[in-house]
Amino acid sequence: MTPDHPYQIIDGEPPKMTAEERKFAYTPHGAARELFDCQDFEVLIEGPAGTGKTRAIWEKLHYIAGKYPGCRILACRKTRVSMTASVLVTFERDVVPPGHSILPGPGRAGRTEYVYPNGSVIVLGGLDNPERLFSSEYDIVAVFEATELTEDDWEKFFRAMRSHVVPYQQVIADCNPSYPSHWLNQRANTPGMTRLLSRHADNPFIDEHPETLDNLKRFTGTRRIRMFEGKWAAVEGQVYTEWDATEHLIKPFPIPKEWRRVRSIDFGVRNPTVCQWWALDGDDRAYLYRELYKSETLLSDIAKQIEALSEGEYIEGTVADHQGQERLIMQSVGLPTIAAKKDIPTGLEKVREMLRIREDGRPGLFIMRDCLVDRDGLLVEARRPWCTEQEIEAYVHAKTVDGRPIKEEPVKKDDHGMDAMRYFAMYINPVIASTLTLLGEKESKRPARAVEDEAAGEWLSVDNDDLFG
Ligand SMILES: Nc1ncnc2c1ncn2[C@@H]1O[C@H](COP(=O)(O)OP(=O)(O)OP(=O)(O)O)[C@@H](O)[C@H]1O
Ligand SMILES: [Mg+2]
Repeated sequence: MTPDHPYQIIDGEPPKMTAEERKFAYTPHGAARELFDCQDFEVLIEGPAGTGKTRAIWEKLHYIAGKYPGCRILACRKTRVSMTASVLVTFERDVVPPGHSILPGPGRAGRTEYVYPNGSVIVLGGLDNPERLFSSEYDIVAVFEATELTEDDWEKFFRAMRSHVVPYQQVIADCNPSYPSHWLNQRANTPGMTRLLSRHADNPFIDEHPETLDNLKRFTGTRRIRMFEGKWAAVEGQVYTEWDATEHLIKPFPIPKEWRRVRSIDFGVRNPTVCQWWALDGDDRAYLYRELYKSETLLSDIAKQIEALSEGEYIEGTVADHQGQERLIMQSVGLPTIAAKKDIPTGLEKVREMLRIREDGRPGLFIMRDCLVDRDGLLVEARRPWCTEQEIEAYVHAKTVDGRPIKEEPVKKDDHGMDAMRYFAMYINPVIASTLTLLGEKESKRPARAVEDEAAGEWLSVDNDDLFG
């Protein structure tokens, strides 16, 4: 088959270019180059962070859109909103030269497509709005961070591949490795899907910015194996083995007014302060529906933001860490809190109980996708987790000197969302489950009123002891 690529291998002196031209001049290497030449129906380009996977896909899409007038391309992620500050930045900043005719129009957040002068279109979308995506037909589909999808999501694209303007149809995925049994890894082991291995050596940007790799080298454990070494690896000693993103991460929906709402806060100074907003349905299933995850910010400013974000909502209580003076500061700006119960083994057990799949096949705890209010640029740059969801898989048991996991003692690192989640679980299930177990009862629920009463009592007594003691 004829290779389908725009680049030429130039012998001798490279052409003279201005800095701006050089920025947009693109030569694919390694897996990126293979991607240009590949015309297989299903292809996965995978590798550690920053190898140039996303750029390679965009360069190919942009090239194909220009080469085949009237073709239809879909670029998507699990949610449309998650594209705005990630892959769309790469496209508009690094791939499309300034002044290109596809750029005017809505900003990145509101854009639904890029229309080329030759009639080609790159449609943007998220699997959270499938009707819009699948009512159309495409030549090429690109799915960024495809480990976020279910296999069912992936197979849905196949019937939309009927535009037939480009001489071949292709569904492209990119991802960082996840756990070995992930459906995408297994699928790429079958002859039906081509796997391309993208590596840091493929990305010339890293030669100019070696500090990118320094950040990755700082990772430890499974995160390092996946994001720096690029291998599919199970999380060793994971605390919440019940966690399964395909079960526990859900599409956001409006919270009914009558549901209970609780906030939970873990304070940090250099470390992020995390505030989680939880809602509880009639079956006591918990939904994390909003999250603030912010480092290097004054607590009084965070308190104001929490109040502003909660406007119009009835929050029954705000449970919070009580290490230092933070609760006092919060109270002084009008945000009183309830001291969290911090017993770690009990807290972990409460969270596990909630994560477990119940008899009707659904778990007792969910995180709404994209419920984070603002991405903290400092954390993103430092390659540290910037939301609760990112902490869960890397939350592991500490180890003894001879490497054995210490039961119920998680490593105290990147665990701020994890702490807030424990405080919340302890607040809504305060010791009742264990008390009832002691009494030989099976029932693990009790009326919300009793919880509130107990919380209110604790609120009064703890403020003084904890803050001034
Ligand atoms: N061939 C290339 N020449 C110059 N710069 C490149 C090249 N490939 C990638 N880059 C640049 O390297 C940076 C990282 O690339 P990209 O975002 O595509 O990596 P990625 O593998 O998708 O990373 P992640 O795994 O974190 O999603 C971007 O700034 C991109 O423009
Ligand atoms: Mg990428």
